[in-house]
Amino acid sequence: MNSSGLEGSSVVVTGGGSGIGRAAALRFAGEGANVVVADINADAAKAVVAEIEAAGGTAVAATGDLSDQAVADEVVATAVTTFGGLDVLVNNAGIMDSMSAAADVSDAEWERVIRVNLTAPFLLTRAALPHMLAKGKGAIVNTASEAGLRGSAAGAAYTASKHGLVGLTRSVAVMYRDSGIRANAIAPGGTKTGITVQADPTAHGPQIVGRYMGNIGRAAEADEQAAAIVFLASDAASNINGVVLPVDNGWAAV
Ligand SMILES: NC(=O)c1ccc[n+]([C@@H]2O[C@H](COP(=O)([O-])OP(=O)(O)OC[C@H]3O[C@@H](n4cnc5c(N)ncnc54)[C@H](O)[C@@H]3O)[C@@H](O)[C@H]2O)c1
Repeated sequence: MNSSGLEGSSVVVTGGGSGIGRAAALRFAGEGANVVVADINADAAKAVVAEIEAAGGTAVAATGDLSDQAVADEVVATAVTTFGGLDVLVNNAGIMDSMSAAADVSDAEWERVIRVNLTAPFLLTRAALPHMLAKGKGAIVNTASEAGLRGSAAGAAYTASKHGLVGLTRSVAVMYRDSGIRANAIAPGGTKTGITVQADPTAHGPQIVGRYMGNIGRAAEADEQAAAIVFLASDAASNINGVVLPVDNGWAAV
């Protein structure tokens, strides 16, 4: 067992087909973990599994929309049946909003962003906890956002979803700390990934958010986020529970 404690562990990374999730899946596999690469994009998930296997690691793809309870259950079941349990859950899959201010958010945008960014992590957490409780150990790492810390980083729907994810992180951290389970989050600043924003630059929300973009600093590489995720999941962070770690070149400090 190496010092991270991750060798031979069973790890689920959602959104593992691209960006931060892909980088985290590769890093976990590099630590000797067995990785479930979960993504709505089947080809992307399979490509990351192939990348891990080519490097001598172990991974399996699980595909589907994680905001569907049946898919979330299936992802957890895949980890348990394939790798003998579930030690680490990384709730990383997420989508951007259109930067819309509250008065301009459609029902469809609100429902979808909350469903993918907040409800899916809840569904996966609920499915994962019994397996972690059975082992008396587990780590959950959620990919929140700078938009989980402030009101100037995205639109109303995304900002609410990421603040909600921070709340879920803290609740799980408190409720299960005496059961050996830790829950933490990273709050990425701008990061070079495949995530897309479709915003009308002349609309109220994007205009306001644009005023604050000068503060965000250097955009991170996806792997810089992944390093923080793997640290929080590892035994090196054994007494770190309920934190929201900005990985943002100091944006949160501005
Ligand atoms: N890139 C940034 O600047 C930035 C900043 C702050 C937070 N984040 C957060 O980081 C996380 C990862 O995003 P990324 O930047 O790597 O983007 P990305 O688009 O490169 O990767 C996200 C992955 O999630 C998958 N996904 C999306 N919806 C899904 C669903 N319903 N079910 C299953 N898989 C789904 C996508 O297919 C994709 O592979 C997100 O939660 C995002 O909100 C990103």
